[in-house]
Amino acid sequence: MSRNTLFTGIGIMACMICFACSQAHQAPFTYETDPVVKELLADQPTYPAAKFIILSDLHYYDTSLGSSGQAFKDYLADDRKLLVYSGEILDTAVKAISQEKADFVIVCGDLTKDGEKVCHEGVAAKLARIAQSGKKLYVIPGNHDVACPDAMRYIGDKTEKVLSISDTEFAKIYNEFGYSSAIERDPNSLSYLAEPIDGLWLLALDSCLWKQNPAKGHHIVDGEFSEETLVWIENMLIRARKSNKAVIVMMHHGILEHYPDNEKHYGEYVVNDFDRVGRMLNAYHVKLVFTGHFHAQDITMKTFENPKGTIYDIETGSLVTYPCPYRIINIKQDQSASIKSRFVTSIPSLPTGFPEYAENYVFEGTVGMADDALIGYKVPEVDLAKLSPQIARAYIAHLKGDEIKPEKTLVTKGVKLWSKLIIATQRSLIDDWWSDLAPADNELTINLQADD
Ligand SMILES: [Fe+2]
Ligand SMILES: [Fe+2]
Repeated sequence: MSRNTLFTGIGIMACMICFACSQAHQAPFTYETDPVVKELLADQPTYPAAKFIILSDLHYYDTSLGSSGQAFKDYLADDRKLLVYSGEILDTAVKAISQEKADFVIVCGDLTKDGEKVCHEGVAAKLARIAQSGKKLYVIPGNHDVACPDAMRYIGDKTEKVLSISDTEFAKIYNEFGYSSAIERDPNSLSYLAEPIDGLWLLALDSCLWKQNPAKGHHIVDGEFSEETLVWIENMLIRARKSNKAVIVMMHHGILEHYPDNEKHYGEYVVNDFDRVGRMLNAYHVKLVFTGHFHAQDITMKTFENPKGTIYDIETGSLVTYPCPYRIINIKQDQSASIKSRFVTSIPSLPTGFPEYAENYVFEGTVGMADDALIGYKVPEVDLAKLSPQIARAYIAHLKGDEIKPEKTLVTKGVKLWSKLIIATQRSLIDDWWSDLAPADNELTINLQADD
């Protein structure tokens, strides 16, 4: 979320039109029409024991691109990520993860600030230290990572474009982190299939629209699978059923809504056609989908009928956004999957008080953005101090997960009538951010055999 997307009804309308468009070209999936495939789906997979760690939205920024000066300060006014500390935060997480017993690590995209080649090389070097501890790594791109026209350096009060990377370069830089060991790669995207543990397949899906970035002149936040990629995904799932492999999925965009009306408020954070794609994954007994993108610690679930089954969208927050989390997943032979959350609580530059600093940083940043948006709607400055902190508190509650909704999510007592009218248009978003959809967000055990 950025200032540009806060309070943008027009953006929401554009998304809805796009959604309607994409539905017009749908062909039925094979599982819906092919009796042989339907028969294959009668059998459920058995998950092998596996322990793995999830990281997301590292947004690594090499500070040699500039971290002082007016241009960088202006950039940060519209971005709440802890970019200046991204290297230290990643180093701290890498050290902790290296010491953790686990089979493999997945990174759900947005590896860099804005796809700068130098940042990709830096993040790959840091992740290599996890590989040295004996764990396999698997990455996929986020919307900031490939062919990104926003790759910049900041010199004094000036910005200057720097090299981003192509899709071919992405696969080359992260060759050891998924691409070289892939069982198969999708020719139309950076998606691939891997087998991190015998019997467990990882479908690493590229949901990003990086092909359109150069023509647009900026990175596309929205996500979508092309029809060709959907055919490839389904073929991999058919193959998994034939080989009797359990499948987990990782992707950058959400596969389910993470709060009421997520698609309406911020549709570009959930993959387009999410219901159709989720229904297909469910038909092939996929239960666990690991995502990132919105920078929130949030797990949601959806039960489908015919075939009956439940999908969990396990979104991991950003390492450079409060509460700076990563997750540990433990699939056991009794077919349960436990999810635990860990947090970076100290970095060399801030050995004490880092969580408080990180929370205040996102709070002040969100208040600043809310102020700017409200001023744009001619809300008097005197009312900003009453309204903007309430928006920021709702947003942070969602970022942390396990939100406990207050009795009143928005108090407008004492603000002017015009301010009340403007904020009323955002009341549902504030209320929705406070609404924690089931299940729990940080600590949870999922029964992988329920609902089938
Ligand atoms: Fe991100
Ligand atoms: Fe993202």
